[in-house]
Amino acid sequence: MDVIAIDDPTDAQIRGWHEVLTAVHAAGPAGDPAPDPGHTARGLRGAEPGSRRRLWAVADGDRLAGVAAVRLPGESGAGRPGEVDIQVRPPLRRRGIGGLLLAAAADGLRADGRTSVIAQVLAGTPAVPFLESHGFECVLSLRGMVLHVADVPPDLPARLLADGPAGYRLVRWRGVVPDEHAAALARAKHAMADFAEYEGEPWDARRVRETEEVVAERGDDLYTVAALSGDVVAGFTEVVVPHGAAGRAAQYDTAVVPEHRGRRIGIWVKAAMLQWLVADRPDVREIETDNSGDNAHMLAVNEELGFRVERESMEYQAAVAALPAR
Ligand SMILES: CC(C)(COP(=O)(O)OP(=O)(O)OC[C@H]1O[C@@H](n2cnc3c(N)ncnc32)[C@H](O)[C@@H]1OP(=O)(O)O)[C@@H](O)C(=O)NCCC(=O)NCCS
Repeated sequence: MDVIAIDDPTDAQIRGWHEVLTAVHAAGPAGDPAPDPGHTARGLRGAEPGSRRRLWAVADGDRLAGVAAVRLPGESGAGRPGEVDIQVRPPLRRRGIGGLLLAAAADGLRADGRTSVIAQVLAGTPAVPFLESHGFECVLSLRGMVLHVADVPPDLPARLLADGPAGYRLVRWRGVVPDEHAAALARAKHAMADFAEYEGEPWDARRVRETEEVVAERGDDLYTVAALSGDVVAGFTEVVVPHGAAGRAAQYDTAVVPEHRGRRIGIWVKAAMLQWLVADRPDVREIETDNSGDNAHMLAVNEELGFRVERESMEYQAAVAALPAR
């Protein structure tokens, strides 16, 4: 079987790619929402600003057996790792297709001057022995939690809101950040950069807007709640309601800048978000979030709001030089 590079995916290739994702999802752990065809198409046609994407597939007759995508953040040769994602149809596994796709992806990473690569996988799935057999090591464990909105006691958000810290006020917006808060939000994002060790570029108002425009271009809705102390964003939380799959919204960043920590600002902004979504988006039934397994504070905030652990995932990393070549 040959690996083909897909530079400019055709409609048929996008359909074929989506069929692979659907087949992998059907055999995967229960509970994850099914992939959305529009989402797949948008993801394959356009990379996010500030990053490029390379795609490969292995054909099996007139359909695809497996697919691989690599995200290349920043410039070529940038110190940041590439990100690989490989998916093989369940009945065609253990025949070396995943290995072929990884070798193709490794060539692409080398050609782009990358020295390291990361992959996110679910604990307890074949991806773990697959990556470990290729020299990847686990560098981070993440706890995927879900909140079922119907299970939230009706008075909980209002109670937490009323307990808000003195001297702060809440603001909220939908979509791209209003100009008046853009620079302050960028400063708050910069302050949480210690959690996102790979996102080394400094946050400024332009990067915040660009990142938010990507969400809008995908057709997804971004909701933000921020706690202000004067004009300073002391903390914020973001939730994205995906286009076409609004049943499950995704928690994006939540952060409280170091000098404002310890005042329950994190749970305050999250309670305000919950109250807003309940009122504005009755179609949102669940909210999912990933937290670093060692971020005890954020895990505690989420548990207090009613989030429950649904799955454990891990981030694996390898040196590109150690990966197989084609
Ligand atoms: C992970 C995945 C891509 C592997 O694809 P694959 O085509 O089965 O991989 P290969 O046949 O090339 O496997 C290579 C080696 O990985 C290891 N491996 C792969 N699956 C394994 C499993 N279920 N149990 C134990 N070892 C496994 C073995 O060492 C295997 O070599 P062997 O078959 O000679 O023993 C596939 O299982 C998949 O699509 N999983 C769901 C999507 C996913 O989680 N992707 C990972 C993101 S990178």
